[in-house]
Amino acid sequence: MTDIKANPEVVHVTIDGVALEARSGELIIEAAERAGVYIPRFCYHPRMAPVGMCRMCLVEVSSPRGFSLQPSCYLRVTEGQEVLTNSDKARKAQEGVIEFLLVNHPLDCPVCDKGGECPLQDQSLAYGPGESRFIEEKRHWAKPIEIGPLVALDRERCIQCARCTRFAAEIAGDAQIDFAFRGDEIEVAPFPDQPFDSYFSGNTVQICPVGALTARPYRFRARPWDLEQVESTCTTCAFGCRVAAQSSAGAMVRFLGVDSDPVNQSWLCDKGRFGYEATHSTNRLHTPELRRGGELAAVRWPEALNAAADALRAAAPETIAMIGGARLSNEDAYAFTRLAKGVLRTDSVDAQLGDGLPAERLLGLPRASIDETCAAKLVVLLAGDLREELPVLYLRLRAAALAGTKILECSPVATSLSEHALRVPYLPGEAVRLVEALTATGGGQEAGSLGPSATLDAARTLLSNLSGEPAGSGVVVVLGRPSLAESGATIGDAAALLAAALPGARFLPAVRRANTLGALDMGLAPGLLPGRVEMTAARAYYEASWGALPDQPGSDTAGTLARAAAGELQVLVLLGADPLADFPDRGLAARALEAVPTVIYLGTHRDASAEAADIVLPIVGDGERTGTTTNIEGRVTRLAPKVPPPGVAWAPWVVANELAARLGAELGFESIEGITEEIASIVPSHKGLDPALFLRPAARDGYLVPLTGAPRPAPSPIDPMATPGITSVFDQGAPIRVGNALPPGAEEPAVTPSNATTPPPPLKSSPPAEPAVAPRLDSYSYRLIARRFLYDLGTTTRESPSLAPLAHASGLSVHPSELARLGLSSGERLRLRSNAGELVIEAHADEQLPRGVVVLGANVAAKGPDALDLVDSRELATDVRLETI
Ligand code: SF4
Ligand code: SF4
Ligand code: FES
Repeated sequence: MTDIKANPEVVHVTIDGVALEARSGELIIEAAERAGVYIPRFCYHPRMAPVGMCRMCLVEVSSPRGFSLQPSCYLRVTEGQEVLTNSDKARKAQEGVIEFLLVNHPLDCPVCDKGGECPLQDQSLAYGPGESRFIEEKRHWAKPIEIGPLVALDRERCIQCARCTRFAAEIAGDAQIDFAFRGDEIEVAPFPDQPFDSYFSGNTVQICPVGALTARPYRFRARPWDLEQVESTCTTCAFGCRVAAQSSAGAMVRFLGVDSDPVNQSWLCDKGRFGYEATHSTNRLHTPELRRGGELAAVRWPEALNAAADALRAAAPETIAMIGGARLSNEDAYAFTRLAKGVLRTDSVDAQLGDGLPAERLLGLPRASIDETCAAKLVVLLAGDLREELPVLYLRLRAAALAGTKILECSPVATSLSEHALRVPYLPGEAVRLVEALTATGGGQEAGSLGPSATLDAARTLLSNLSGEPAGSGVVVVLGRPSLAESGATIGDAAALLAAALPGARFLPAVRRANTLGALDMGLAPGLLPGRVEMTAARAYYEASWGALPDQPGSDTAGTLARAAAGELQVLVLLGADPLADFPDRGLAARALEAVPTVIYLGTHRDASAEAADIVLPIVGDGERTGTTTNIEGRVTRLAPKVPPPGVAWAPWVVANELAARLGAELGFESIEGITEEIASIVPSHKGLDPALFLRPAARDGYLVPLTGAPRPAPSPIDPMATPGITSVFDQGAPIRVGNALPPGAEEPAVTPSNATTPPPPLKSSPPAEPAVAPRLDSYSYRLIARRFLYDLGTTTRESPSLAPLAHASGLSVHPSELARLGLSSGERLRLRSNAGELVIEAHADEQLPRGVVVLGANVAAKGPDALDLVDSRELATDVRLETI
């Protein structure tokens, strides 16, 4: 794409007789489009470098030698240039290109997925000759061929525009497909022994201008004229890609990426794109259930709610806890915070499942936006493998690195961004030592034992070469959880030390679970209240509108599960959370759920924790709900429902409302917009984020909170070839309501303003007095790295038939010398033992691994060898012993 910002000078051009100002360096096709002149195209894509492959965009362009035909997607504007897009010569050239492209094209439009939304169809009608001089037999190929698990190829439909191959190589960095053979034998092909299994393969389907590449989950499911669509946000991870959610006959059938310039820039990962299949999984919860005689049985909502309210009423506040909330909308999270802290008066709530970072670090460190991160002088990565955890953030950072952003990666093992980074390895549990060594705040000790000192020196030089005041200006730290076997406290403390040493640095949270930041903003964490404020500082402010708050400090998820396992809890509420699968210490989670007398589960699918619950309450899921969600940078976007929820599933805020009413307290919520209004009026970080703001077309990119200045201008254009006819849900004139919420025509509820006038100060992260560092590794042990993979056994992958077979296989990676020490070869089985458990697993040699660590997948095996069976959540790092069996 032309970088207009880098070339701000104006040049004067004339397009079809109209004088225009264009930006120096701009492509003719782009300048014409801004002026409202559409030039036909196939290979041009605004997010990729031009190639001038298809010649569909030929126009006449003036030069000292007179006018000549030129590809407008390849030529840049120059001062005084004249362009004719519609002259006889240009039209004849365009007709010729169409005629030629159709020489071998099968014209099987009636059975082609692209029929009805196909640029080749549309442009043949608009710019083609109307008839062909070619009568020869067309090419025939076996069709379709399945080039990857999610993508099929009908080779004879391909017009060789190279959009797909360029995407794979340029944007995804996965050049798994390319052109093979020459002349009329040319075809797009994967490598013989490597399927097209890129995490981003669906983007090639979306940008293919014909029906050559089709998505296997969508093939023959719908026609464009059957489709209804809304614009919404993907909540599969926390990056918050904008999507067009499309349904046919009441079923979700397709997600397309929408071009949100500050976020996903039109791309999606395949998990986000195809995870909609989970919406219609046979494992969806349809109706409330109560455990009777040891079995869960379907009941009506009042019965289930009465049972839940009875259990909550009978329990003392300090024996009630809530876990989860990151799968909820902001409004749902706010409603449950009010229920927990304002009605039940328990502070033991935590949106994270022990797999994130301390809330006070995530909320209290100065935040960077995604754009600021990509434009930083130096990005410090202290996170997991972003391609596995936040895939489109990986795409954005990869592009930034290729454009010159320097990356310093602090990671025990190589990740997908390592090839673009200076990687400083550290021993899990010793991130604090690494930061001290990098910033020389702790006397310059060496970091663990994993990296050569030359690497550390190069990293120090990178940091010290940065100029600007205060120190660290231009640095953005991408902060996540490199390993689930390494406590979040050690990473949080390392980040706080970085912030102290580099006061100009900013932080982009890289937590994976979808609305983690939104749920934390809404106060779903112990010691916090909505608006990134501490309960100690904000008590009076919130008590003025909510009433009395908890008098006892609460526990986070790890603390709650430990208390539950010790028999100290009476009621545990799971808010769309499955700790039996997701909490890093599965043994503790199992003991906890076993010991709590009443487990109330709100969720969308029947998972392990639903099976263990006493009261199961079905809630609306992705594609069925409305409200807002918040991404990693603090961008609040609107969710739009496309299909009805199954059975009698409710919106979670309605459940909170009903439970409060049964407990004698009125939350007073009557619609989701009413909650958004209350948030906008009370919550300090969200002041002014009125529901009316979301009705503006400009709201499609959402709003970064806290709001500063005017809302963003109109979003960047959508590629008309990629996402035809997308209209925004915000253009529909009225906020969308959940079916069981406010009846049509009913009045909005009154907002409850806070009586306190001065909002509490925002939370600020301060450096730890005693930073958390794991004890040194003994010479008989190995430090466990519990890695996440995009396709794990979480709900989205497990419940989507197309994604489930892609789930990562369980396997242990070890340096070959460690295997040799045990007398084993790669592929043999060994026993792994930690303080929390033991398992037997196949071990694979990996020469890239440093010695002293072993790597195992997290949540990749439900009942098999999995890292989460070994993690000891009491330890800052989990050490294991390897034994022969
Ligand atoms: Fe272009 Fe589609 Fe062919 Fe790829 S498969 S070269 S995107 S027409
Ligand atoms: Fe969805 Fe995250 Fe993938 Fe974007 S990167 S499509 S938000 S799962
Ligand atoms: Fe210009 Fe293809 S769009 S050559």
